[in-house]
Amino acid sequence: MIDLHCHILDAIDDGARDADDSVAMARQAEADGIEAVCATPHIRHDHDVRIEELAGRVAGLNAKLEQELVAVRILQGGEVAETAVEGLSEEELMLLSLGGGGWILLEPAPGPLDDSLLRRVAYLADRGHRTIIAHPERHLSADMFERMAALVEEGALIQATADFFLRENMAAGMLAMAEKGLVHVLSSDAHTVLGGRPLRISPALERLREIEWLAPHLGWIAETAPNAIVSGDPLEVPFEPRI
Ligand SMILES: [Fe+2]
Repeated sequence: MIDLHCHILDAIDDGARDADDSVAMARQAEADGIEAVCATPHIRHDHDVRIEELAGRVAGLNAKLEQELVAVRILQGGEVAETAVEGLSEEELMLLSLGGGGWILLEPAPGPLDDSLLRRVAYLADRGHRTIIAHPERHLSADMFERMAALVEEGALIQATADFFLRENMAAGMLAMAEKGLVHVLSSDAHTVLGGRPLRISPALERLREIEWLAPHLGWIAETAPNAIVSGDPLEVPFEPRI
């Protein structure tokens, strides 16, 4: 498995506190059967991430993981705020794409999903990039499923937060979203081992198995899609929104 959304680089945004925290996060990934983690620091006005330094930071963490005998590799990426995309050069967009495969992990602006997000997906498509919408379930509105379906129609994929499927107060809503064909990939969006969501995907994948029509597609969700995304290989979604 590959985790496509994770704040594993230390002292760069609100993610890992220090190098030991990054290594501990990678150990969580390894224990869950995750072989690769995309480092996706916030590209947003309130975090001063130097895009040109990311390759060095990723290489540094990979060297440390090798030293510590952790069998997880870190891939480059970013969680790009929708308000930041227009200001990024083509070179920067490629450096922020997940694993360098061209896909952009796009963070919706705070508040309910709105038309601006759809316009950004189309804008990125015009620039030759496909989009993955980061955790739209955190942007609640009465029409959120319709809005997600419209984003999918525009060519986007939906990334759901894996651990929300295990939370008592959120599991039903997350399963409803998956039931409607609006979950394409599961990611941890983990920030630290010191609190919040752990770096794991497989327990959420097991919850998806409860949805009868989706069960045959779990291999696509867990392996086929993430592998194609980080490789930049062609990818067809084997199911459509059911709303
Ligand atoms: Fe995130």
